[in-house]
Amino acid sequence: MNSEKYTHGHHRSVTRAHSIRRASDSASFVLPRLKSPMRLLDFGCGPGTITIDLAEHLLPNGSVVGIDNSSTVIDQARVRLDQKGTQNVSFEVRSIYETGYGAKTFDAVYAHQVLQHLSEPVMALSEAKRVLKPRGICAVREVDWGASALWPPDERLLAFLDVYSRVAACNGGNASAGRQLKEWFMQAEFSDLEVTTSNWSFSDQNGLKWWGEQWSERILHSELGKRAIDYGISTNHDLEEISQGWLDWVNTPGAFFAFIQVEVIGVSG
Ligand SMILES: C[S@@+](CC[C@H](N)C(=O)[O-])C[C@H]1O[C@@H](n2cnc3c(N)ncnc32)[C@H](O)[C@@H]1O
Repeated sequence: MNSEKYTHGHHRSVTRAHSIRRASDSASFVLPRLKSPMRLLDFGCGPGTITIDLAEHLLPNGSVVGIDNSSTVIDQARVRLDQKGTQNVSFEVRSIYETGYGAKTFDAVYAHQVLQHLSEPVMALSEAKRVLKPRGICAVREVDWGASALWPPDERLLAFLDVYSRVAACNGGNASAGRQLKEWFMQAEFSDLEVTTSNWSFSDQNGLKWWGEQWSERILHSELGKRAIDYGISTNHDLEEISQGWLDWVNTPGAFFAFIQVEVIGVSG
């Protein structure tokens, strides 16, 4: 279980990309079911932007704890929290496999883009179930990179998709986790499953620029690229080519990228 590695790491190119996420775009599938005075645990909260939004959504009497096993991102989340001054949220360095919370502590657990990085996702869901009160809800959203739609099919970007999924697998994760999410909830014995999908797509100039430029940087400077080299999947030259491929793609007429997000809500006990 502990041999897994978080594919992206916490280079600023990664946390900057994660910090633009909001509850309105990343948790809309569950927001109608989250109401004050619920107590929510955010599994793998990263830099905490979604977490703080969830806390504001649960005002006046609800509260949120965001946990992540990286002290780097928890420090960033705490700085953000100090700046915003939201009172009903806290951030803690904890593992989602063993959170240390007592059984039946929370009304809801939320995880966004986290289980895909775990070698034991069902074990994490079982921990979520343990800390949930009876009839508590667990809501998870995971990407499915295997369901990517990319145009035009530049070979450097097709190589990126291959490198990404191979590095994720070597790290113990699964880049196409979305399609397995429902099965993992079933294995963790959640009931009343509600499964929905949404998508991320990039086609206007701002979206293309944001998506292409971040991957151009991340493939060279984040853990993703470093591990691709360590695992013998790519050379430095390959990564340079992929990086330039993303920059060229941004200005290619007809450029388009989309992939699906799978969202599952399950009920405990
Ligand atoms: C892709 S980021 C998602 C962050 C946030 N949920 C969001 O969507 O912006 C995944 C996060 O899960 C954290 N993580 C990975 N494995 C973990 C574990 N075993 N326990 C706690 N956090 C973990 C990573 O440190 C990282 O911050």
